[in-house]
Amino acid sequence: MSVLDLPWQQLPEMKPFLPDGRLVDEAGTGREVHSASTSNNLVVLQHWFRELKPARTLEIGLAFGASATLFLALHRAAGHTGVCHEAIDPFQRRDWGGCALRHLESEGLSARFAHHEALSCFALPALHESGARFGMIYVDGSHLFEDVFVDFYFSNLLLDTGGVIAFDDSACGHVGKVVSFIRRNLAAGYRELSPYAVTAPQWPRLKQAVARWSNRQQLTLFQKLDPPVRNWDTAFTNF
Ligand SMILES: C[S@@+](CC[C@H](N)C(=O)[O-])C[C@H]1O[C@@H](n2cnc3c(N)ncnc32)[C@H](O)[C@@H]1O
Repeated sequence: MSVLDLPWQQLPEMKPFLPDGRLVDEAGTGREVHSASTSNNLVVLQHWFRELKPARTLEIGLAFGASATLFLALHRAAGHTGVCHEAIDPFQRRDWGGCALRHLESEGLSARFAHHEALSCFALPALHESGARFGMIYVDGSHLFEDVFVDFYFSNLLLDTGGVIAFDDSACGHVGKVVSFIRRNLAAGYRELSPYAVTAPQWPRLKQAVARWSNRQQLTLFQKLDPPVRNWDTAFTNF
């Protein structure tokens, strides 16, 4: 087991997401867990959760619920009550057999959780309309450029100043393009955070920068400074 897996020993809820983990779906059938966030991603998210102590968090993309379980276990440990974590995923029952919902229920985490069974392009504006705000947002749904861009567009409206938005799979071209847009056009409003500061602090800064700029970074995080000012005629920087 890698050193990055060690924190999960203190979080028994995360056991199904360790190597060779399984979950039971809503029909009672066991399923092998796949497509879960990497251990590195989860360690970085845990780090920023402990730094920021956000009262409410949001994720796009639930699947088997690895990141949702982590967020909810952290909310419980922090003593947060009421609905603290929300996840958007239209395919939880169709593609994932409701495994995440069943797991959260069996771990006693459901009372703090809300699931939006809709495409993120519809669920996110509805959340904005309802006045919802979040201190951390994890973007891990559709990996198509147009969907990730829409996820960012609305997440920007939903994220608190000082809050963190994290993009999984930023080494993928679709996601990387949205990340480049933020870096090149919104640098005054978003400060990039290094995942390596958490997972590989011994790495020289140059090596970290090379990984970032050669688009080989799995997880990219930004902290919202001030709401970015974007007049209709703001100059465009190619990305
Ligand atoms: C990589 S998985 C998420 C993994 C999860 N965060 C974890 O750590 O276990 C991507 C998820 O995005 C969902 N998804 C795909 N398109 C979506 C969309 N347009 N809106 C919301 N979720 C979407 C899929 O059903 C899938 O469950």
